[in-house]
Amino acid sequence: MNTRINAAITAVGGYVPDTVLNNAKLEKMVDTSDEWITSRTGIKERRILEAGKATSDMAAMAIKNLLNNTGVNPDEIEVLIIATSTPDHQLAPTAPLAAQKAGLKNAWGFDFNAACSGFLYALSVAASLLESGRHKKVLLVGADKMSAIVNYEDRNTCVLFGDGAGAVLLEPSKDAGAVLDTVYRSDGNGVQFLSIPAGGSAEGTTEQTLLEKRHYVEQDGRTVFKNAINGMTATSMEVLEKCNFTTEDIDWVVPHQANLRIIDVVGEKLGIAKEKIKVNIQRYGNTTAATLPLCLWDFQNDFKPGDKLLLTAFGAGFTWGSTCIIWGGLRNNNKK
Ligand code: ACO
Repeated sequence: MNTRINAAITAVGGYVPDTVLNNAKLEKMVDTSDEWITSRTGIKERRILEAGKATSDMAAMAIKNLLNNTGVNPDEIEVLIIATSTPDHQLAPTAPLAAQKAGLKNAWGFDFNAACSGFLYALSVAASLLESGRHKKVLLVGADKMSAIVNYEDRNTCVLFGDGAGAVLLEPSKDAGAVLDTVYRSDGNGVQFLSIPAGGSAEGTTEQTLLEKRHYVEQDGRTVFKNAINGMTATSMEVLEKCNFTTEDIDWVVPHQANLRIIDVVGEKLGIAKEKIKVNIQRYGNTTAATLPLCLWDFQNDFKPGDKLLLTAFGAGFTWGSTCIIWGGLRNNNKK
């Protein structure tokens, strides 16, 4: 008898702030144009969290959205993982704060930082907590307040990012739903091409680092661009092989939303039709750890139980990888 426990996504939730920062507004802030941003990135607008609110507030809103839509009792949530690069505080994890704000009285929780690959990496960790039999209800949230770490005087970065949070509930699967295999990679050489240089233990905050604005995101866009395409394509091919799937078997691709051109090239290299590739970057920009769950939230009505999904991401570190999942039946019958 097969006693293996599979972990399935059984509910999805999301939250984006009301304030819209569109390309027309950015044209007034830095030397850029709607035409440049749209043709180079595919982004038309992104959401910005109001002053005084933090990543934990967005995470709590996404969790409440999930719980309200599904009627799951918050007391039953055992673990809360928050994938984020923008914790509320350098010391004191965001997960306990978000759990408190969402009314999760019995959950223990922790933060998980792998930049834009955070949700993807953490999906494997969350699934393992169920597959081991140790837990029965695990919430995984990808949430980032990128507006807190973006320099709105730097046109190279400020047009790319937005704020948001997405949440998934993982439970032991009662149907075909499963988190199948993963292929994840990382390369510490990537730090020179994408990071916040100062403010961490490597280079503490000083008057000088503040003057030089080294506490904001800096990246060599072209290098990141090339590595993202190669990394996402290679790990996608590898994970398909591990799962004994061909690209034709895949019903949907849910890629990290950093740049529409990256998504298009990865799709072309994999030979997967554009109609199968989920894209919402035009509305939210790059929300870092939130892009994948926000896509699952936005497009949940399209996914049918039994569908094969390929998730792929690339981010700072460098960190990257791909995962295949089988979509199960959602508690809200796949209705947003
Ligand atoms: N408006 C107008 N011009 C701009 C802007 C802008 N917002 N930004 C850059 N430019 C200029 C540059 O200064 C450059 O001018 P120059 O030729 O006179 O020097 C020109 O446009 C071309 O710049 P490139 O960097 O070559 O532009 P590219 O086509 O590569 O696009 C971009 C830049 C959008 C940043 C792209 O490289 C990219 O998307 N990179 C990957 C980003 C990514 O995936 N990040 C990973 C995840 S982030 C995370 O982990 C937190």
